Amino acid sequence: MSAWQKHLDENIEEILIDEQMLAKRVNELAKEISAAYQTLDIDELVVIGVLRGSVIFMSDLIRRLILPVTIDFLAISSYTKGTRTSGTVRILKDIAESITDKHVLVIEDIVDTGLTLQCLLDLLGARRPKSLKICTLLDKPTRRLVDLEADYVGFQIPDKFVVGYGLDYEGHYRQVPYIGVLKPEAYQ
Ligand code: PRP
Repeated sequence: MSAWQKHLDENIEEILIDEQMLAKRVNELAKEISAAYQTLDIDELVVIGVLRGSVIFMSDLIRRLILPVTIDFLAISSYTKGTRTSGTVRILKDIAESITDKHVLVIEDIVDTGLTLQCLLDLLGARRPKSLKICTLLDKPTRRLVDLEADYVGFQIPDKFVVGYGLDYEGHYRQVPYIGVLKPEAYQ
């Protein structure tokens, strides 16, 4: 067994969502999203990934969309690294193209307090897209501080510290192919 595998065995308490469940749900979401935009007969859907947690989910999802898609990326500073209650985020890397008059789908890995989502909606909504929807892989509704929901949700999960499939702890575990619960000893 490799040192990395041993590390995972020792630090991951439980596999919450395995690879099969992820693939199945991503497929379902892609069908749902494709159907919704197909009825609008759009000529472009701008899919915006919020760096960095969304990249793995986004790359799996867009390959299953039966739509004309372009992609862009946004990096924001998280309020959690400053004060939790301020609820404001700063753009670290802006999207490359204008979204004015375009259909936009923002991809998140997780909606927790909802503060990031609120800021994203404000920031991107001010640029007058034709439509603005949010798709998140994970949703922790019990942690919500603002009354906001994503339009498309992969899984609702309990308030546990999860890593993998894009989600990190101090930058690590993003490449783990499943969503796992990190043991409290690993981050306390
Ligand atoms: C995570 C996640 C969301 C945000 C959700 O980002 O990707 O953007 O937190 O939390 P909220 O609903 O409480 O606002 P993080 O700052 O961990 O950055 P990362 O995507 O680079 O991991």
